[in-house]
Amino acid sequence: MNHFDLRDGELWCEDVSLTALAEAVGAPVYVYSSATLERHYTVLRDALVGAGLKGEHGGPPLIAFAVKANSNVAVLKTLARLGAGADTVSEGEIRRALAAGIPGERIVFSGVGKTAEELAFALKNGVSEINVESEPEMHLASQVAQSLGTRATIAIRVNPDVSAGGHAKISTGKADNKFGVSFSEAERLYAQAANNAGLKPVGVTCHIGSQITDLAPMAEAFAKMRGLVERLRAEGLGVERLDLGGGLGVPYFNQPTPPSPEDYARMIAKTMGGLDVAYSFEPGRMICANAGVLLARVLHIHERPEGRKFAVLDAGMNDLIRPAMYDAYHDIRPVKPRAGEPVVYDVVGPICETGDTFTRDRALPPLAAGDLVAFMSAGAYGAVMSSEYNSRLLVPEVLVKGAHWAVVRPRPTYEDMLAKEAPAPWL
Ligand code: LLP
Repeated sequence: MNHFDLRDGELWCEDVSLTALAEAVGAPVYVYSSATLERHYTVLRDALVGAGLKGEHGGPPLIAFAVKANSNVAVLKTLARLGAGADTVSEGEIRRALAAGIPGERIVFSGVGKTAEELAFALKNGVSEINVESEPEMHLASQVAQSLGTRATIAIRVNPDVSAGGHAKISTGKADNKFGVSFSEAERLYAQAANNAGLKPVGVTCHIGSQITDLAPMAEAFAKMRGLVERLRAEGLGVERLDLGGGLGVPYFNQPTPPSPEDYARMIAKTMGGLDVAYSFEPGRMICANAGVLLARVLHIHERPEGRKFAVLDAGMNDLIRPAMYDAYHDIRPVKPRAGEPVVYDVVGPICETGDTFTRDRALPPLAAGDLVAFMSAGAYGAVMSSEYNSRLLVPEVLVKGAHWAVVRPRPTYEDMLAKEAPAPWL
């Protein structure tokens, strides 16, 4: 459910006309709906609480929004006001979370390659948990903590060796992925950490992949996690927290319908069978994907003699890379659909490579130069993965709330773009 709907034959975001918005800001532009972000967050929170899952001190579980999915500070602030935490994977993301008013105690620091500088930054800012992914990283966290005269609160990331996720490039839970350690390693490292002056192990964590539309692999992984918690406790080790990652899929129109947050929460409660831990989660996509669209304008319709019709847009793979990178499907909706029989188009961007193709052979309402189209479900892994490739200006972002909207990342100017570079002294 989202707040992008047709009104009198035109697409609106909440109470804002996308046609008017694109006139004012120009295309391409990402547009996010506050009401949709808020709804997705509260639906998940209510489902988890409703299933009896608890967080620290018996409160609701920590929902640490995966900042990698959408790191715009205004988006983070929108979620922070509802109590969201942040799952971060770099100093930059921690800084964004802090800038959005998310306190360190609701920030989790994940990722396979944290540097000593980043770990020090996290510790100095009171990040609640460092999710350690390997033995060398655990030792680095300990060294950094000791050099700062403190202990690093850590959770060990386990790789449950379960296959899940929408695409090979976003599946993380198999043993041959770079993420996390095996169950036996986790037990060994946890015991080691408990005796290490620089570490305070508080829990275990897993994340098996992204765009998961079937609960079975998650249930399998989570049952293994429960077993791990029980074994650690049987060894006399304290395990206070269990972080179950993110990964729940969203409906991308042509995909299998993902499980509801209620089914997900019930599955967890059932799998855990009353295990007494503080739960936390790291959802990204399910909170923000359907809360955002990328608006683009049709530059022209290019018909090849062989019969192919190319709708050439002013947005390219540098603005939305998911189709090129993961063969991802995004629903493409004209903002003001024209009447007439559907026409089959290849929808492409202006970048000089064939990979800059959003879709081939897609039947759409007839398009003409100047029309606006919306790439739906582009709020997750959209703007965050954009670049200036082909020296195109970074795509701006707009946040809508009711009848109001604000440019929350302006389109840079060409002067801004060039000012970031410096000539070598000999040139
Ligand atoms: N936690 C960890 C440790 C992760 O690695 C990720 C995503 C998440 C949480 C959030 O997962 P989500 O709930 O959003 O599925 N760029 C790709 C997706 C990459 C996901 C990477 N990790 C895409 O556009 O599909």
